[in-house]
Amino acid sequence: DYYAVIMAGGIGSRFWPVSTRRFPKQFHDMLGSGQSLLQKTFSRLSQGIPERNIKVLTNQSYQELVLEQIPGMTPDQVVLEPAMRNTAPCILLSALKIHKENPNALMLVAPSDHWIEDEEAFLKDVSQCFEACRENDKLLTLGIRPSFPNTGYGYIEYDASDTSEIKKVLQFCEKPEYHTAKEFVEAGNFCWNAGIFIWSVKSIIHAFEQYLPQMFKLFSNGVEVLNTSMEKQFVDDHYGRADNISIDYGILEKANNVHMLEASFDWNDLGTWGALHDKLEKDENGNAVVRAIPYTKDAKGNMIYSSSEKLIVVDGIEDFIVVDKDNVLMIYPKNKEQNIKNLLTEISQNF
Ligand code: GDD
Ligand code: MG
Repeated sequence: DYYAVIMAGGIGSRFWPVSTRRFPKQFHDMLGSGQSLLQKTFSRLSQGIPERNIKVLTNQSYQELVLEQIPGMTPDQVVLEPAMRNTAPCILLSALKIHKENPNALMLVAPSDHWIEDEEAFLKDVSQCFEACRENDKLLTLGIRPSFPNTGYGYIEYDASDTSEIKKVLQFCEKPEYHTAKEFVEAGNFCWNAGIFIWSVKSIIHAFEQYLPQMFKLFSNGVEVLNTSMEKQFVDDHYGRADNISIDYGILEKANNVHMLEASFDWNDLGTWGALHDKLEKDENGNAVVRAIPYTKDAKGNMIYSSSEKLIVVDGIEDFIVVDKDNVLMIYPKNKEQNIKNLLTEISQNF
């Protein structure tokens, strides 16, 4: 009764120009490994969870991309959203579907775009979490020891006096301001939220009933048609009325039965070009290259990415992002990479 849902409906706007609304980063081979991030996520999960119990949640417009990239997947394993409403609605919908299929199911929720290399450690942590929520009403999340005050993550304050490996969470704070994040990191008993959740479908549905009752009502009115040929019509008619809210703000910040296991594996959410640079192998001057044929001189710490094999000549620049993608070339300082998201709206919606 192990199930997994992979959330693959985000846009990855900080990875522009490679990631676009039409073809977001999770469908790209960002690491140059021969597999897209979604494919890597699916193969990692399928080592511990039966393939037929893995669903992908995504926007309608990415249906073909998902089915193309995961050939064994049947259309009923792909949950299609007619509107972008962030992660809470798609998690509730899929939990209700799984619950109808198997009321005792245990469910893992995973982002589609993370870097996790040690699959064995990942699967070990996951199975420990599954066992911990089998008989208990616990919402479990994996925590990562923070190394700096990153304001793009959720922070988990855990009870340091709790000697069990799975610790009670005292406070969950999604994307705090910088000074708060700094205090959290200094306090010592905080972890980053990896965004990987484990719970029983019963527990998470109950949490929605308590903390997002409108959304709960909206979708549970359609429980009869879920997993039938009438589901699509129901979802098309109702999904857009759900609040646009993430699971972190909607449930984890409010619930009092959240628990955390500190991950035993190295993790990176590959949120930006700089994060990708960190995780790739680099030449002796710290330049990381994906797919391009580089010719570098006097170049240090650069992230060089090309969507095709192309000679890229880089001389005299340090800590830059150089991205060549079809009809777009971007040369951008790494220390301003958070700005790429805004840049997108400034330039044009078309790219
Ligand atoms: N199906 C679907 N529908 N998936 C979505 C949607 C949606 O509307 N919006 C986002 N996703 C997917 C993204 O593709 C990604 O895989 C995952 O859900 C998480 O969304 P992000 O937008 O990347 O969230 P975040 O990075 O800002 O924050 C989350 O992850 C951090 C760690 O990477 C939170 O859980 C933070 O607390 C956490 O620290
Ligand atoms: Mg993310």
